[in-house]
Amino acid sequence: MALILGIESSCDETAVAVIDDTGATLESRIVAQRIASQDAEHRPYGGVVPEIAARAHVEVIAPMVAATLADAGLGLDDVDAIAATAGPGLIGGVMVGLVTGKALAMAANKPLLAINHLEGHALSPRLADPDLAYPYLLLLVSGGHCQILEVRGLGDYRRLATTIDDALGEAFDKTAKILGLGYPGGPAVERLSREGNPRAVPLPRPLVGSGEPHFSFAGLKSAVLRAYESGLYQPADLAASFQQAALDCIIDRTRIALEACGPVNALVVAGGVAANQSLRAALETLAGKSGLRLVAPPPRLCTDNAAMIGWAGAERFARGQVDPLDVAARPRWPL
Ligand code: KG4
Ligand code: ZN
Repeated sequence: MALILGIESSCDETAVAVIDDTGATLESRIVAQRIASQDAEHRPYGGVVPEIAARAHVEVIAPMVAATLADAGLGLDDVDAIAATAGPGLIGGVMVGLVTGKALAMAANKPLLAINHLEGHALSPRLADPDLAYPYLLLLVSGGHCQILEVRGLGDYRRLATTIDDALGEAFDKTAKILGLGYPGGPAVERLSREGNPRAVPLPRPLVGSGEPHFSFAGLKSAVLRAYESGLYQPADLAASFQQAALDCIIDRTRIALEACGPVNALVVAGGVAANQSLRAALETLAGKSGLRLVAPPPRLCTDNAAMIGWAGAERFARGQVDPLDVAARPRWPL
């Protein structure tokens, strides 16, 4: 039973939220949330520039904390604890959010929760769906990560699969760059795919059929580049064929993981790419075939946000798992 202030700054979104873990619905659990995207700052460079990201976080984070608390009608003294992302991510940005969290915790004499960003994504489906109980099989697909985890309980994660090269979101972003669709690329590739033929361009499905459920997308991206340079294909057909190939890989790999994991209550997808409607539809079909339900948070909770950090904080706070004020920011931090 707690009010948690969540802070997220590990990549290119500065986000602050207030979570009430007594809420019975998603709407009542998120008391307030704000997200400031840095897309415009990074767009000219075609990707996130770490120094620009860190500086942009510094500029907006303190006013955003004040504004989010004001939205919630609360003062700092009213919250029970402060949860801030402590990694993994771009270290400059992570430090901005974590130091802000530490300063607030020290000033208001509140406990600090140093949250793993991946744990935020991994638990976000439980924020969105109060009926989702452990254990569940999680497909975590974002710009930096592509993993399948058996989520057995809070802090009890068994990794069944990871990517041997690029993350799925990275593959979407690189394909967008090849096609000149700008940054961030995932939503643009999804949009253009709707106008294309997913069977028009022959593309590989790396690792499909292999017994271990790992991922690989580098070869697919190279094949998209070669097909683009051949001049034989329309951009919409390239986008649609890429998306189809990527989703075929994801579905095949997730099917293998479902066979390898213990009994689970649901198939769950989280992370930025989980906003992709075609991915959600394909996973829905796979879950149905396995007699499971698919839990996919609303798209605004799939991409980076502070509500998921506040929620992971709430789950940890409820178990008394607070962190010391000298906890370090971590650029790498596997779950
Ligand atoms: O979780 P997230 O916001 O940040 C990381 O922690 O990485 O994920 C961002 C990634 C980007 O690669 C972006 O292109 C991708 O998620 N993405 C999508 C879609 N929306 C975001 N990829 C495919 N389709 C989408 N609709
Ligand atoms: Zn993320």
